[in-house]
Amino acid sequence: MKVLIGTSEIAPYSKTGGLADMTAALGKYLGAAGVRVGVVTPLYSGILERDVAIHSTERLMKVQLGSGIEEGRIYECEASDNLTIYFVDHQHFYRRGGIYGEADMSYPDNAQRFLFLSKVILELSRQLPWRPDLVHLHDWQVAMFPVLLQNERQAGRYLLPPKTLLTIHNLAFQGIFSPDLLRWANLPWTYFHFQGLEYYGQLNFLKAGIVYADYLNTVSPSYADEILTRDHGCGLEGALNERSERLIGILNGVDYAEWKTTDNPYLEYSFSPGKLSGKAKEKQRLQRDLGLEVDPQIPLFGNISRLVEQKGIALMAEALRQGLLHSMQFVLLGSGEKDLEAVVVDLAESFPGRVHIRIGYDVAWSHRIEAACDFYLMPSLYEPCGLNQLYSMRYGTIPIVHAVGGLSDSVIDETQDADRATGIKFEEFTSAAVLEGIFRALELFGDADRLQAYRRRAMAVDYSWSAVAQSYLDYYRRILEAR
Ligand code: ADP
Ligand code: GLC
Repeated sequence: MKVLIGTSEIAPYSKTGGLADMTAALGKYLGAAGVRVGVVTPLYSGILERDVAIHSTERLMKVQLGSGIEEGRIYECEASDNLTIYFVDHQHFYRRGGIYGEADMSYPDNAQRFLFLSKVILELSRQLPWRPDLVHLHDWQVAMFPVLLQNERQAGRYLLPPKTLLTIHNLAFQGIFSPDLLRWANLPWTYFHFQGLEYYGQLNFLKAGIVYADYLNTVSPSYADEILTRDHGCGLEGALNERSERLIGILNGVDYAEWKTTDNPYLEYSFSPGKLSGKAKEKQRLQRDLGLEVDPQIPLFGNISRLVEQKGIALMAEALRQGLLHSMQFVLLGSGEKDLEAVVVDLAESFPGRVHIRIGYDVAWSHRIEAACDFYLMPSLYEPCGLNQLYSMRYGTIPIVHAVGGLSDSVIDETQDADRATGIKFEEFTSAAVLEGIFRALELFGDADRLQAYRRRAMAVDYSWSAVAQSYLDYYRRILEAR
């Protein structure tokens, strides 16, 4: 099988969130399973400098963008077995300070930037010596691909077109633009209607993908159900319901070659389910390095996230104000919206020596915090999949989660199955419910044997990407066999 993946982010080259981890692992593990894989993604600033294996090629993609022709040179990198990454170079569109914008402002030409990417994917799919059977698109940035392909096919310009699959990682981001920007797509206005690209008078890229892709999926089974409802459908529940027979949920996995508790370059001590002393040492090291009281008896809670509404940061801070009246510590690593940064910095000022806030983005610290903490707080308003609860479990750090989306699918609460419990879940999205979760954690911490059992079970849970890649392969086969 031959698959071309289109994405605006891929780790470690470009990342704003879990999308990058997901596409990197998907490519790698599909390749390992024997699939011929190509990934098409922009060559953003800094990428060439970080990997000498990326080299320029003679491939120059010329595409019509509005009334002009834009060119992108393809750089290539053989990333792993059967996996080639095709980086699209366009000085003006991609060599900038950010991926989607700078200083909290989206770039005003994002429609053009990502239509260009979608058109280059289309051109590559036609020109590659190995013709992809299927093109797998991720999120709104490349969701116009299926309609661009359909238009080419109908005009007789694309014989034997590939099948298309769109993965929705986060329905809240749709790529909504003024309708006059449709001119950059070079599509006829006949596509601009209620059952096409139109959305309350605007042009909606994600809706285009939902309507025109052959098949759809989301990154957890629960989220696939949730988005069909008014509460979680972000206005697209109607379009999604039309296609619900072609929509499934596949939970993301963890790349355990990176997220590991032994021989991890970011950790000083190794640990395993049978030998947890290294975890205690990591906790001690973190407490010391962050200026928290060094004491194994004080439960340490952590959180690593983008500071945005989705992640329930304000609610968490409110609950922590109560929780911290008891013996506990909290450490957070994150960056994002300025008002939420202020909320957490304020919390640290109220509890000196007990709360540490690290504003920024740092992979090394994210591993250290996951390893050192006893509990991981993830009170997301909604969560398509969520990766940190999965990383937490592998690191023996008990997740405390709002029971939605992928959080609901991946964590088992004692009330569901006492013998298999791996974490703590709460149902309501309120600070009282988060606090209740914290109290349950404090109680668990007080019972060393029970805590040990939780940790061992959580660490043993297997969310390996090889199994997830198999699920995608099964879905691809089903798509290719369908008429
Ligand atoms: P989302 O994609 O919605 O942000 P996920 O849980 O899927 O949420 O993925 C978030 C990813 O980004 C994880 O790999 C997490 O460790 C990482 N991450 C988020 N914030 C930071 C940060 N400040 N420093 C390092 N890694 C971070
Ligand atoms: C999105 C979602 C997150 C998911 C990630 C990778 O960023 O918000 O829940 O884990 O995509 O699929």
